[in-house]
Amino acid sequence: MQISFSAPADIREGAWVVGATEGGQLLPAAVRADKASGGALSRALKYSSFTGKAGQFLDVVAPAGLKASRILVAGLGKPDSVDEKGLESLGAQIVARLYAAGEAKAALELDVPKGAKVKKAELAAHLAFGARLRSYAFDKYRTRNLDEYQRKLKAITMVTPDVAAAKKAHAGLAAVADGIFLARDLVNEPPNILYPAEFARRAKAQLSKLGVKVEILGEAEMRRQGFGALLGVGQGSVRESQLVVMQWNGGKKGGKPLALIGKGVCFDTGGISLKPGNALAGMKGDMAGAACVTGTMLALAARKAKVNAVGVIGLVENMPDGGAIRPDDVLTSLSGQTIEVLNTDAEGRLVLADALTYTQRRFKPKLVIDLATLTGAIVATLGFEHAGVFSNDDELVRRIQSAGRYTGERVWQLPLDPFYDKMIRSKIADMKNIGGANSGAITAAQFLKRFIENDTPWAHLDIAGVAWQDGEQKPTIPSWGTGWGVRLLNRMVIEHYES
Ligand code: BES
Ligand code: MN
Ligand code: ZN
Repeated sequence: MQISFSAPADIREGAWVVGATEGGQLLPAAVRADKASGGALSRALKYSSFTGKAGQFLDVVAPAGLKASRILVAGLGKPDSVDEKGLESLGAQIVARLYAAGEAKAALELDVPKGAKVKKAELAAHLAFGARLRSYAFDKYRTRNLDEYQRKLKAITMVTPDVAAAKKAHAGLAAVADGIFLARDLVNEPPNILYPAEFARRAKAQLSKLGVKVEILGEAEMRRQGFGALLGVGQGSVRESQLVVMQWNGGKKGGKPLALIGKGVCFDTGGISLKPGNALAGMKGDMAGAACVTGTMLALAARKAKVNAVGVIGLVENMPDGGAIRPDDVLTSLSGQTIEVLNTDAEGRLVLADALTYTQRRFKPKLVIDLATLTGAIVATLGFEHAGVFSNDDELVRRIQSAGRYTGERVWQLPLDPFYDKMIRSKIADMKNIGGANSGAITAAQFLKRFIENDTPWAHLDIAGVAWQDGEQKPTIPSWGTGWGVRLLNRMVIEHYES
């Protein structure tokens, strides 16, 4: 979708979207629209239940006296509760309504209500960002009845008194939207198309042109270095496992990087511990952690963030096969620690273990954040509204929580404790890859913690619930892959790590 910014002028075609606050107060553009239409809005207000609450709309179609095809009044809610994530949500809802209405063009002219905390330029930029996120679609595999999926709205104009400032505020957000779209595309791609080498190829193609240094390690190199845990997961697949290392050095020269690590299981059958049929479909999305890391690296590079960051993703396919790992096998990880594999479906932690070791030893990062669709247990615990966060550093948790509140990508902290660590003791090796029947998200995190060296500040985000979901429930997400985490990590960088 094309997004442009322009100063107030007569709206000559398409929808004119204006705002009102709770209590039905029309904002200045809405007052102008009302006058220009001979009081059509005031009359419509009288006969509708519209009160200007956030999420409410009032539609006046083909108003007499105006060239615009409709006036759409959007409720902004109470002025003091207008914030960035609310505006993004509103922008998304507006686009959804314009799609449903079949409008081809629209001008969004929402004024900042008195008492709101956001500035004019930010209001326009965040509305546009939300609109853009809602315009995402993944239709590349549809070949018939395309008009069913076609959407007429191709362009919106953000009408704002300060065009230059709005454009500037929007540029950074447009970079983030690009990162989110990349992450969503990667998650939505089917696993016969997006296997590890193809994921790696796309990461390199998308990122290197933005100045990110991208390295790809294949199986021979990983075997030479001793990636026994990651390679163990991939050994039942005909697809070659890959490790992708993405470096963005926009910060101080030689400054320690932030490290972002992603689970990239391009398809998780469970392996020899095969998942039951109903649990298999959807497991193409088991690389959402890796997709988020890749999308975040794209966002940081595209907006030239003044930060040093390294993204490392472990890409594998977990398949059952004559050559696959079995329950009871013992693997030697890159760290040297041995792992008794008692369930081949607990594979994500094996992939992350080696990626964690590699990243810490090579980059000595300032902090490590890993993202993984790691457990069904986190879905049972937190559902789709929060990711689980586990950490050895309370300040890091606070920073992630704060970015989560701002962006709406929220996290909830769960405990680490020696008690849970005991649950992964093995009878014959350093650890086993499953805990008991209970607290599965926590024992998975305890497993990862064993691969953190020198008390490096570390947080693990279990995103199994938030990474893919039915977009009907969420305004800014129309389809399956959410791109969850790109906004969160980008915001965290802005709040704390940009020099
Ligand atoms: N990829 C799954 C976790 C998952 C489940 C993600 C549902 C999204 C939706 C992970 O590899 C897995 O299979 N975890 C097992 C661990 C168990 C065997 C200890 C699980 O959660 O059941
Ligand atoms: Mn699994
Ligand atoms: Zn998995």
